Amino acid sequence: MAQGKLRATQGGYRAELDETERASRDQIMALQQKRLAWSLKHAYDNVAHYRKAFDAAGAHPSDFRQLSDLAKFPFTTKLDLRDNYPFKMFAVPRENLVRIHASSGTTGKPIVVGYTRADIGVWSEVMARSIRAAGGRRGMIIHNAYGYGLFTGGLGVHYGAEQLGCTVVPISGGMTERQVQLINDFRPDIITVTPSYMLAILDEFKRQGLDPRKSSLRFGIFGAEPWTNAMRSEIEQAFDMDATDIYGLSEVMGPGVAQECVETKDGLHVWEDHFYPEIIDPDTGEVLPDGEKGELVFTSLTKEAFPVIRYRTRDLTRLLPGTARPGMRRMEKVTGRSDDMIILRGVNVFPTQIEEVLLATDWCGGHFIIELTREGRMDEMAILAEARHEHWDGSGLAVHAEKVSDLIKNTIGISTAVRIVAPDTLERSLGKAKRVYDRRPKG
Ligand code: DLL
Repeated sequence: MAQGKLRATQGGYRAELDETERASRDQIMALQQKRLAWSLKHAYDNVAHYRKAFDAAGAHPSDFRQLSDLAKFPFTTKLDLRDNYPFKMFAVPRENLVRIHASSGTTGKPIVVGYTRADIGVWSEVMARSIRAAGGRRGMIIHNAYGYGLFTGGLGVHYGAEQLGCTVVPISGGMTERQVQLINDFRPDIITVTPSYMLAILDEFKRQGLDPRKSSLRFGIFGAEPWTNAMRSEIEQAFDMDATDIYGLSEVMGPGVAQECVETKDGLHVWEDHFYPEIIDPDTGEVLPDGEKGELVFTSLTKEAFPVIRYRTRDLTRLLPGTARPGMRRMEKVTGRSDDMIILRGVNVFPTQIEEVLLATDWCGGHFIIELTREGRMDEMAILAEARHEHWDGSGLAVHAEKVSDLIKNTIGISTAVRIVAPDTLERSLGKAKRVYDRRPKG
């Protein structure tokens, strides 16, 4: 299972785990029950929105006696957070915050989140735990190419890396040539970056005539956007490294809500001592049993400044039993958000499904975009897929394109127009990739 230069995690590592990482399921559930009671009361007592919403639903924090009682409490949505812009969801006086982050969002006002000193402490702890689960150890150098600023990626990883005792290179995103230069000069063990930007770094290695397999990088911690196991293999093989998935969102904390363990690479362990996950049917709101796919919902268990109660993430996944950390459940890789889902002539499609098909061919290296247009009343999907340098001689393109189009038709069930474009023609993202360009007339 594990690829590449996996050495650090072999032998004796269980002794390094936190107490909660070694806890049994029963111990974790007991802790959750205690912490949930606190969090519900904290939100109710200190945030007008929660008091109003709980009252309207007829749910009082004192009604919470066991974990299943959580279902009586109302959901929180992005709209609720937006309506309380900028500071009205805080449960502590503004002066007690030591940090603010915000998620940009594509439309309207950003979502603003805040942290007390204790919140930053918890975040650093779960992030340090995540880096360790990915193979990181004290003393390693970590090249942190997540963006610094209002986005939680840069600073979130940074504090966790320091907490673990790593040497952080806070390079942030962009200036790809320099990224490669510093990887060569500083010889980091770990890289933290979005998977799509990792591909841009890979291209730059090749452009400079450097062999990425000879780089010092041994562990990659990739997230902030959906990516497939096909992309994992692509990156692991290109760099001879172990790649794991990290998940998080600003509203719940930032990166480090869930992390894949390098020794199993079988989905992401949710750090359930701080974040309580549920899966619901997105249409009815009904809580689904573990193993069933639906929308992921989170309740914070320990957050002081910005408690979230049953926050609807819109991310689609399912919960599975713990493996490498038996007390804590895993979430399956997020295949997409309900708002990224394209409904093409009645068929639901996620960009990750297209990624999977493209990476199954040997000529496409993972750079692609999807364009949606409307011809008369029919929606059309065009896929522009970039060829790899190695296979680009400008010939046989129509044949490749037709093959991919057939494969998509057979696996996903939709007709698409595939166009193969020359290497380096599609725009590179510095952070989260923009995959879908919807050019259909509005309304
Ligand atoms: O993306 C936090 C983060 C930073 C996570 C760095 C991992 C690494 P937001 O900008 O608030 O926060 O975006 C959160 O990104 O609801 C998912 O839709 C998506 N997302 C995050 N991680 C993953 C992942 C950060 N591993 C939104 N797989 C979430 C799929 C992810 N989607």
